[in-house]
Amino acid sequence: MINSIGVVGAGTMGNGIAQVAARAGLAVVMRDLTDEFLKRGLSTIEKSLQRDVDKQRLPPEAKEEIISRIKPTKEMADLGDADFVVEAVSEDLAIKTGLFRELDRIVRPEVILASNTSSISITKLAAVTSRPERFIGMHFMNPVPVMKLVEIIRGAATTDETYATTRELAEVMGKTAVEVNDAPGFVSNRVLMPMINEAIFALYEGVGSAEAIDEIMKLGMNHPMGPLQLADFIGLDVCLAIMNVLYDGFNDSKYRPCPLLKKYVDAGWLGRKTGKGFYEY
Ligand code: 3HC
Repeated sequence: MINSIGVVGAGTMGNGIAQVAARAGLAVVMRDLTDEFLKRGLSTIEKSLQRDVDKQRLPPEAKEEIISRIKPTKEMADLGDADFVVEAVSEDLAIKTGLFRELDRIVRPEVILASNTSSISITKLAAVTSRPERFIGMHFMNPVPVMKLVEIIRGAATTDETYATTRELAEVMGKTAVEVNDAPGFVSNRVLMPMINEAIFALYEGVGSAEAIDEIMKLGMNHPMGPLQLADFIGLDVCLAIMNVLYDGFNDSKYRPCPLLKKYVDAGWLGRKTGKGFYEY
C-alpha cells in the first residue's frame, strides 16, 4: 500500500507530480537542491490549485490541506521513509545515475524507484541500482495536472508486481496508465519528437512561417497546440536532448536533429522558459 511518495525535483514535472499525488491524498516529500527551486515549485502548485478554486472545482480549504501534505526539503535523507519514489530531475544521464545510486542506498529495499525521464533508457538507469526488478519508468505529460496519460515503461528486469503497483499508483493519482517496453523515446517521444523536428525542418527550409505551420496542424489535425508552439512549451533543449537519444539509439539518419533546433539551443533560446523560442513570450 502506497501512502507516501518522494518526488525528486521541484521543476515543471516534479511540482506537477507532487501536486497530483497530494491531491490524491498521499503524503509527499518534494526534494530539490535550493530553497529557491522549492519555493518556485510550491508557488506553481499554489497557483494551479487556486485556478481550480476560482473555477469552483476545489473548495478553498481543500487547497490548504493539499499543500500541507507536501513537505519541501533539500535533504535526500528525508526521502528515506517514502513508500515509492519518482525522480524528475534534469534530462541528463550522469545526473540521473548519480541520483539513483544515492536513492538506492537511502530508501528501503522493497521500495520501487521510478524515473519520469522522457527518453533515457530505463534499463540503463535500473542497472546502477541494486533493485532493477523494482525500477520502472513513470512518464507524466506536461502540464501534469491536466494531462491524463502516464506512460509506464518496463525496463528489461522490471517485474509484473512492480508494474502492477506503479499502474495502481498512477490510477490513484487520477491518471490513465499505458504500458510500453523500454526503447529509445518509448512511444510518446518516438512519435511526437520527429513530428516536431520535421516542423522545424519545414520552417528552416522556408516551406512556411512558424504561424502557418502551427495553424495547419491546429486547424487541420485538431492538435491543441501547433508543433512549434508545443516545442517552445516543452523546452527546445529538452526537444534536442530527446532527438539525440533517438538518433544515437537507432543510428538512423531519420532522427537527425534539425540544424535550426541546435542553433536555437546554442543561442539560449529555449522556448517559453527563457522568453524566446520560435515565438517571443
Ligand atoms: N496547471 C493546471 N491546469 C492547467 C494548466 C496548468 N499548468 N494549464 C492549463 N490548465 C487547465 C486550465 O485550467 C483549463 O481547464 P478547464 O478547461 O477545465 O477550465 C484547461 O487546462 C485548458 O487551459 P486553457 O484554456 O488555459 O488553455 P488551452 O485550452 O490552450 O490548454 C493546454 C492548455 C492544456 C496546455 C493545451 O494547450 C494542450 O493540451 N496542449 C498540448 C499539451 C501537450 O501536448 N503536452 C504533452 C507535451 S509532451 C510531454 O510532456 C512529454 C515530454 O517528455 C516532452
